[in-house]
Amino acid sequence: MEQGRNAAQSRVSGGLHLLPPPAPPLRSIAQLPGPKGRPIMGSAREINSTRFHQVLENWGRQFGPLYKFSILRRTFVVTSDRDVIATLLRDRPDVMRRSSRTSRMLEEAGTKGLFTAEGEEWRRERKLAMRALTPEVIHNFFPKLTALTERLRRRWHDAIAAGQPVDVLRDLKAYTLDVTIGLAFGHDIDTLEHEDNQLQRDIEFLFNRVARRLTSPFAYWRVPLLKRAVDREADAAAARIQQAIVGFIADTRRRMDANPALRGKPTNMLEALVAARDEDGSGFNDAVVIGNAITMVFAGEDTTSNTMAWLIDFLAAHPAAAAAMATEADAVLAGAAVLDDYHLLDHLHYADAATREAMRLKPVAPLMALEAASEIAIDGVRVPAGSIIFCLLRLSSERDSALERPASFLPERWLGGAGGDDPGRKMFPFGAGPRFCPGRYLAMAEIKMAMSMLAKNFVVEPIAGAPPAEETFTFTVTPSALPVRLRARTA
Ligand code: HEM
Repeated sequence: MEQGRNAAQSRVSGGLHLLPPPAPPLRSIAQLPGPKGRPIMGSAREINSTRFHQVLENWGRQFGPLYKFSILRRTFVVTSDRDVIATLLRDRPDVMRRSSRTSRMLEEAGTKGLFTAEGEEWRRERKLAMRALTPEVIHNFFPKLTALTERLRRRWHDAIAAGQPVDVLRDLKAYTLDVTIGLAFGHDIDTLEHEDNQLQRDIEFLFNRVARRLTSPFAYWRVPLLKRAVDREADAAAARIQQAIVGFIADTRRRMDANPALRGKPTNMLEALVAARDEDGSGFNDAVVIGNAITMVFAGEDTTSNTMAWLIDFLAAHPAAAAAMATEADAVLAGAAVLDDYHLLDHLHYADAATREAMRLKPVAPLMALEAASEIAIDGVRVPAGSIIFCLLRLSSERDSALERPASFLPERWLGGAGGDDPGRKMFPFGAGPRFCPGRYLAMAEIKMAMSMLAKNFVVEPIAGAPPAEETFTFTVTPSALPVRLRARTA
């Protein structure tokens, strides 16, 4: 992207005076290449909602790093240029914002919080969220994280001992939900051992509805006559989740009143949020706390469990990498079945590298929808305010890759040394710029805990003949199945 020139040109429309020498006139979005589409409907029929990201990536391979497509007369811009994406992500929240369409749909589902906030509201809430997710908060939570990881180990151990199959994908989801609710609200809802948890069902249901709505060409559920039973059920699920969180907040307040020291040293996210909200002049009310608490659950559950699922899928197909992870787990965990020393998380270098490699090939957020808050120019193309720009994060690293064997799963490439290349520079698994994922530290801690436990105690094998894990777009990218079997590791 011609950053300087474009930045200056975009300022022209804002009326500033420091103009560079005359530049070639800007092109319009209509001049960009892209799929032809049909009259009125545009490319609506090509957009397969469960393969949305792959459709956009395939067009990116066909039409290049900047293209357009239309649906129902609305035109979208798509970029997979790494430098352009880095600039767009950096220029938030003032020049770029999240897609207002995405934000509205999330807010309709009750998740009005940091993810959907913009401008000053976002700045204030970001500070709040950063306080709720500091390494210190996670350190304080670590004994519970160890206990929840031990519960997962025991469940798998008992199932294997009884000769029963393990549904790894289901258990990972339950584990991350228990961890997120545990850290967020200080409650152990134990969805791992209890199949039928209303909160879990509501969260899952709502998440799937939002994913389907995001790729729906028309917001039919806002028209009372067209609203379907599933949409009414989504409203009911959102209300129940809200109610549950109001209860968690009441419990938290009671605990904090009984033990005021918790205000200075919160042991979970909700305590941190409530402490911040109660400070003089904080400007926050309970609605902000509730919205952000729900946001954390939505943002933290599927992202983390799907990342682990993709990693396990790779480990099943790459026994040498799995063996390297097991050797490391033996050394770091020593006699323990589950890591019980917070500081040792930093010693799990191979597990860390394998996670990054899985996120490089199977990022759970391979695209991001942004919206121009004011007019900008991208590579000589005028992009008016309000335009939606899809950033293809995975394709950008694929296009820009100078890596050896880029399609291969090679955790070693992250362990330094090899030519001094830094694969991280080329990827955005946690986003980038001022809105990068604030849960990154928690996510990596959780993944390393569960994956070191897995490597220490179990062997993962592919199930011969089972259909492979396919990428399914459900807001995050979920594997359609996890065709692996666990067996206990002997010696
Ligand atoms: C492997 C796990 C995770 C992945 C891959 C991931 C990825 C992402 C990505 C790509 C974004 C958008 C960043 C951007 O706009 O630049 C994001 C934002 C966010 N994530 Fe995560 N995330 C993960 C786990 C978590 C966890 C565990 C939490 C909290 C409990 C969390 C909370 C959030 C929030 C609140 C935002 C919105 C930040 C903002 O708009 O300022 N995430 N995440």
